[in-house]
Order: sequence, then structure tokens, then C-alpha cells
Amino acid sequence: MKCNYAHVLLALLVLPGTVVFSHADTNLSAGLDQFLTPPPAREARLHGPLVYGVRPGSPLLYRIPCTGERPVEFRAEHLPPGLTLNPTNGILTGEIQQPGDYPVTLFARNARGGDQRNFCIKVGDQLALTPPMGWNSWYIHFSHVTEATMRHAADAMIASGMADFGYQYVNIDDGWNIKPGNKNSPADLPTRDAEGHLLPNKNFPDIQGMVDYLHGRGLKAGIYISPGPTTCAGFAGSRGHEAADARTFAGWGFDFLKYDWCSYGDHASTKTLDYFQQPYRVMSAELKKQPRDLVFNLCQYGMADVWQWGGEMGQCWRTTGDLGNEHDTDLPGFYHIAFRNAKLSAYARPGAWNDPDYLLLGWVGGSHGSHPTTLTRNEQYSYMSLWALMAAPLIFSGDMDRLDAFTLNVLCNAEVIDVDQDTLGRQGRIFRQTADEYVLVRQLADGSRAVGLFNLSGQTRTVAVPLGELGLAGHPIVRDLWRQQNLGPCNGLLTAEVTPHGVQLLRVQTQNH
Ligand code: GLA
Repeated sequence: MKCNYAHVLLALLVLPGTVVFSHADTNLSAGLDQFLTPPPAREARLHGPLVYGVRPGSPLLYRIPCTGERPVEFRAEHLPPGLTLNPTNGILTGEIQQPGDYPVTLFARNARGGDQRNFCIKVGDQLALTPPMGWNSWYIHFSHVTEATMRHAADAMIASGMADFGYQYVNIDDGWNIKPGNKNSPADLPTRDAEGHLLPNKNFPDIQGMVDYLHGRGLKAGIYISPGPTTCAGFAGSRGHEAADARTFAGWGFDFLKYDWCSYGDHASTKTLDYFQQPYRVMSAELKKQPRDLVFNLCQYGMADVWQWGGEMGQCWRTTGDLGNEHDTDLPGFYHIAFRNAKLSAYARPGAWNDPDYLLLGWVGGSHGSHPTTLTRNEQYSYMSLWALMAAPLIFSGDMDRLDAFTLNVLCNAEVIDVDQDTLGRQGRIFRQTADEYVLVRQLADGSRAVGLFNLSGQTRTVAVPLGELGLAGHPIVRDLWRQQNLGPCNGLLTAEVTPHGVQLLRVQTQNH
């Protein structure tokens, strides 16, 4: 017997007029009939990763992701000494001195019902035990980013509900410090103070206050610089000041550093492996000396097979060039980036992730402000599915002022995010790649498999995968993750009718697990 899921889909469409999320919608003109993610339950529901890495003695800050009507009351059992949970906003703070695993049970309750889940705090050397989730300023503000836009992005992350699904990093990209020789910051304007500390530009009058503001909301702050003399957009780089800059970033309270190669290469004489590794090794060592945890993102576009060694220095490494520059007349660029990134599945593991660049969904940036993406809705669901299957960092880089209902429907599906954040940390593998079909299969911690059936063609197409070839026997339970519905027992063949450039994302669980 086969199970063909095409017909089930019709029954699962969200009814027109259904309110999908409660936040402001700037794009309601597009009908609601293609929204896949159902609205979140009104009861308190806990989300986010089941594991969290922190170093001994480092400040821990974690806003427990939770959907449902407010007020929600939070509670935790077995919290290790040194940690405090604010019962009203669900923000966990403190520090743990002793290395080890600390299993905690989290509880959340509102007027309609409650939820609980296990959460293991692992105090040791490893950070980012699941891929980082958040927002980055680059593709929307480019080098015109300001402190006000960062604060505003943090507010939007909370007001939109993104933070309730686990988005937590609010990351400044290029453009926050002084640009030598720029007309707004003339060449005689120093890039550092007398002690060698990096100076923010006039758009960041109170960078430490901005970081405090983010932290006050339970969110984390990210910053950007290059190992060369200048950044990619020509702002001052760290070359020769790595120790001071790591101290400065930690002193301001940052939690994440993107280190972007760019002008470093101008100073190259020889191109040995050591030459490629050196700037990252230096900054990594400086970050490790700091009294707080900074997730280190290596951005050098995949040179010298960074996936083979990036995990020794940081927690994630860009595997390709800029996704925003990836254009194609047929398949959208994110597919081509995914094809390259997916080949590197063997290198991803907890605390060490392939990074195929940002989520460019919804309203994205351009030379004249933001505009709706040219991607179809099906393509946007595919994009998010690929990133979840590839255990990619989920960093949105679109317009936080225009988080319309559809964009949030793609970004905020708890079951899709659970695939990305799965504790086993195994990246999905390529099961099939033809001109018309692409199938990724990801093994998950509970023994189930996430399976993405992608249709690369321009026509609706039936994509089928024999269960036996996935290593799954018996009569597994198959769940449609976008629609959050079980599809009934399946014998022999997983098959779905998939829209052009679209996806059917399934979780397949054999019943003896
Ligand atoms: C490079 C990076 C981008 C962005 C820009 C900033 O192109 O790959 O992600 O950081 O630099 O200038």
C-alpha cells in the first residue's frame, strides 16, 4: 500500500480569514489560503532546544521560548545553584561554576493550560550545541545600520512572537564603526581611542547601552569585524588589535562575533592552510580568554575547506559566498547554496555548524528600501525546510518592520524549528538529486527521520521515496511538519504531490522507537 499525501493537503489548508498569529500584518492583501503553519495554541507551549551549552562561570542568559496567551507563569525544577528564573518573563540568568550536565525541568502555565519539558544545561567547553537562531542587519540595513534599528529589531523579535519560538540573537553586521576616509567619517577621524579601543561611529552613540537593552529583554547581541585592516564595506578591521578587540566586544557584553575575511587576503604572500587558519585561530584564542561566551562565526566563504577545521576555532562557518548574490533564472539562488552546503553534511555536529548564510524571506532589502521577496510562497517554505534539514543557523536578515503574517508563518513553525534544533546535531544527507527532484533525510535524536521531498521542476510533481531505502521498516507514523498533522500509517512508499520548487517536509517515526 502507498500513502499519497496530496489529497490530505487540501483538507489542511488554513481557512481564509483565520487569524494567523496576532501581530501586525503589513501584507494582508495576499490571501491566506497558502499558509501552512497552523496558528499557535492558546495554551502555554514550550519551544526551543533541549540542550544549552555554557562555559563555567560565564554569564548565562536564556529567554525560555514559549507561545500561548499571556500572562504565562514560568517555573523550573532542579535549577542548579547560581541560576535564577524570572517567573513572569521566563528569563533565566546567572552562572554555574562547576562543569557538568545539569538536567532541569521547565514548566510554563497560563489560564488555558500548561506545558513542561526537559532542558539540559551543559557546562563545559562547548557553545551553540544547537544552531544559533536570530536576526542579522546586513541584508536590510547594509552599512547604514544604527543603534536605534538594532533596539527596534529586538523589540520586533519579541512583539512578533519570533522570540517565543527561539530566535534570540540580534546581530549587527558591517557598518557600526568608523570608516577610514569616508566622507561622513573623514580620514583624520580616529578609528580607535588613545588606548587602542575600537570606536563605534555616530550611529552607535551608546553601544553598551544598546547591548544592555537587548539583554534586558532576554535577547543576545552580536557584532561584526574583519581580521584584515578593513571590513568588507571598508570600516576599520581588527588587524594587529585582536586581543584589544576581543576584550572590547566582551566588555560591551556581546555574545556573538562574525569575523569576515575580506581585506585580510590583501596581505597574503603565500596561501598555505596555515595562512587561511591563522586569523581565525588568533581571534578564537582571544575570545576564549574572555569572561563571557561569544559564539564565533567564521565568515570566509568556504576557503581551504573550512568545514574540516572551523569547528576547532568557532561554532559555525560560512560554506559559500553571499546568498544575496546568488542569482539564477530558473531555480532560486538559495537552492544552489543548499546544494553545495548539503554536500558537507558529514562535518556538522553539536557546537560546529555549516552556515549557508541568512534567511532572505519576506520583505528584503534593496537600494530603495525593502520590498517583498521575489520568491514564491512555496519557495519560501522550501528555503526554511532546507535550512532546518541542514542544521543551519536560522538567522533571518529581512525587514523586522515588515514581519507580515506570511513571513512569520514560514519563520515560526515550532515543529520545523525542532528539526533544525535537534539535539543529535546531525545534518541531513542528500538522498536523491536529479534535475527535477531533491530529497534530504535527517536523522533525529528520537530515532525518527526528517525527510524533505523537494520538487525542482516548474510543474507539480509526485515525489516518492521507498521507506526501506531510508532505513525505516514497519509501518511508521508520518507527520506533515508544515501543517503539523499526522498523515496516517504508511506502508512501503513515502509519496507526495509537491508544488513547483516546493516541498513536502515529513517526520517519519517507526513505531517501535
Ligand atoms: C560579506 C559577508 C556578508 C556581509 C558583508 C558586509 O560580503 O559575506 O555576509 O557581512 O560582507 O560587508
